[in-house]
Amino acid sequence: MGKYQADPKVGFVGIGSDAPEALLTNADLEKIVDTSDQWIVERTGIRTRHIADENTTTSMIAGRAGLKALEDAGIAPEEVDLIVVGTATPDMLFPSTACLVQRDIGASRAVAFDLSAACTGFIYGVNVAAGMIRNGTHETALVIGAETLTKVVDFEDRSTCVLFGDGAGAAVMRRVDDGSGIEATRTRSDGTLADMLKLPGGGSAAPATHETIDERLHYIKMSGNNVFKAAVKAMSSISQEALDDAGLTADDVDLFVPHQANARIIEATARKLKVPMDQVFMNVDRYGNTSAASIPIALDEARQTGRLKKGDRVAAVAFGAGFTWGSIVFRY
Ligand code: ACO
Repeated sequence: MGKYQADPKVGFVGIGSDAPEALLTNADLEKIVDTSDQWIVERTGIRTRHIADENTTTSMIAGRAGLKALEDAGIAPEEVDLIVVGTATPDMLFPSTACLVQRDIGASRAVAFDLSAACTGFIYGVNVAAGMIRNGTHETALVIGAETLTKVVDFEDRSTCVLFGDGAGAAVMRRVDDGSGIEATRTRSDGTLADMLKLPGGGSAAPATHETIDERLHYIKMSGNNVFKAAVKAMSSISQEALDDAGLTADDVDLFVPHQANARIIEATARKLKVPMDQVFMNVDRYGNTSAASIPIALDEARQTGRLKKGDRVAAVAFGAGFTWGSIVFRY
């Protein structure tokens, strides 16, 4: 839940992103499963995604995005005292991907941990970091959403393998007093819907065995149509709640940045909120669904292409496995 977050104000002072160079196109997927470019574009809006090679891990992409965000902020890694990595595809079950990032970027003072909220990982991470900065225990947070989902999609399942891509986005957060900062956050969860989107193998419920591999339990399983409907309902209602908390309406927002899962989910959510599509940022065509990385990558692209300018008001919203969902309203 959330309420207006006025004092002290916490905001984004640097943003960065990174993605592996190699692309996986719809034409490539046509050679792997029974699908077509036309089906994928019509049903999802996706044309290409970035794909990590076998030597590239989530922490490597996360570290690169983190360093770019720090460079944008003009802040050295040694000044960071908190690293939160939202990811559903950690390098390994432990140590955390955040600790590997801390090591790799030389953020020696930072406390570092991962946060598991699937596609809502960045929004949850921002909320947690903002609370820790606001309560005075931490000053400079690096919040990262990072994924290598192509390593856990089943390339024999055409209903999921066309959807996901790899990448990372990061934001540096600090107290701010220049009129920017977070105005409202709302986060929610509903574990009764856990079975609709999951990766069942490799945890305590189904430790790795020859059988779990034969049953393909180490890949994403999704009830696509149910997730679609739940995502539209949850993303539109929580965006409205966060705007209400901030005493704002959709007209006060310069840019909506929704989780980039599927162009049709984004369009249906915008319709429900009565927001015209020219106010909505979309790059799902070039990234696919990068889960926790989706929103910070979108923010970075919006900034780099001039769609997001200093002083603009942004409403970001995400939805993912759990189910988890959340929205932040902020001035950049
Ligand atoms: N190519 C061709 N045909 C396909 C493909 C494909 N890649 N995938 C599914 N189909 C077929 C199905 O088999 C089905 O055929 P049938 O009617 O003969 O049984 C037909 O297309 C329709 O399938 P639906 O699942 O009803 O299609 P829908 O319009 O719902 O689109 C999709 C499927 C794209 C998966 C959609 O449901 C969706 O985007 N859901 C949300 C997925 C998502 O965003 N998940 C992540 C959100 S949370 C997070 O990010 C972790």
